[in-house]
Amino acid sequence: MNERTALFVGSTSALGQSLAATYAQKGWNLILATRDVVTQAEIAADLRLRYQVIVHEIPYQATDTAGFTPCTEKILQWGCPRRIFFLTGDPGEPASDILDPERVLYMSMVNYVGIASFLAKLYPAIIQEKNVRIVLIGSVAGDRGRAVNPLYCAAKASLDVYAQAMRQRLYQHGVRITLVRLGYVDSRLSYGLTPPWLTLSSRDAARQICQIADKTKDTNIIYIPRWWSFVMLLIRLIPESLWKRLPHF
Ligand SMILES: NC(=O)c1ccc[n+]([C@@H]2O[C@H](COP(=O)([O-])OP(=O)(O)OC[C@H]3O[C@@H](n4cnc5c(N)ncnc54)[C@H](OP(=O)(O)O)[C@@H]3O)[C@@H](O)[C@H]2O)c1
Repeated sequence: MNERTALFVGSTSALGQSLAATYAQKGWNLILATRDVVTQAEIAADLRLRYQVIVHEIPYQATDTAGFTPCTEKILQWGCPRRIFFLTGDPGEPASDILDPERVLYMSMVNYVGIASFLAKLYPAIIQEKNVRIVLIGSVAGDRGRAVNPLYCAAKASLDVYAQAMRQRLYQHGVRITLVRLGYVDSRLSYGLTPPWLTLSSRDAARQICQIADKTKDTNIIYIPRWWSFVMLLIRLIPESLWKRLPHF
């Protein structure tokens, strides 16, 4: 088993592609997982050709928890990854989603439950391995519920609290969990929705995430870009009695 294997769940995201290329460049073997297995196969072929590293591929559909068992068994046959990145996310269609019970469930599956369920199958091996870093991509949306996207905010907040709890639970086993509270990043998900001057390139975001994951010192929670920590501090300080009266943004 190569001790330098990294798993990227949500490998087709712009962030996932940049991160996978960064690790391949450093000579790590890769495991890619996503639901769009055709695009994933193209990404994997490109990485093999460019960096001459081993790239494994598995399907990951957030709603298919039954499929997690064969997928995680395969991963563990290749060896427990030392770096695990969860990049999956979907802001959905807020206006219609809140009126549809199936979509309410779906939003929770994609942004939180799928991630926790998949990791549940890996934890026994991760604990044995000890020196494992898990990076979960959350969002500044999880810091405060907003009328414009209640389900996404709620799911990202759940992911945040889950990370806190598992970080404490697994600390004694040498497992480190970083929650990235991501601000605006250039991607398919944010295309045309975020002001360009406030939007970080996915390559820059990946570079910062990679530095954090490989640092000896633990990073528990981080805002990327960093200035979002100040913005969100101010937003969290607004009393709920005033917050509920503000115009939707
Ligand atoms: N872009 C931003 O401004 C921003 C801000 C805050 C947080 N984030 C977070 O950053 C992460 C990366 O997102 P991104 O901006 O790079 O967007 P993206 O390019 O749309 O990536 C989203 C990823 O999630 C996967 N995915 C979506 N639904 C899925 C499902 N049902 N099952 C399995 N995989 C699914 C997508 O796979 P497919 O290729 O199969 O669709 C894709 O790999 C997400 O967690 C997102 O919430 C982004």
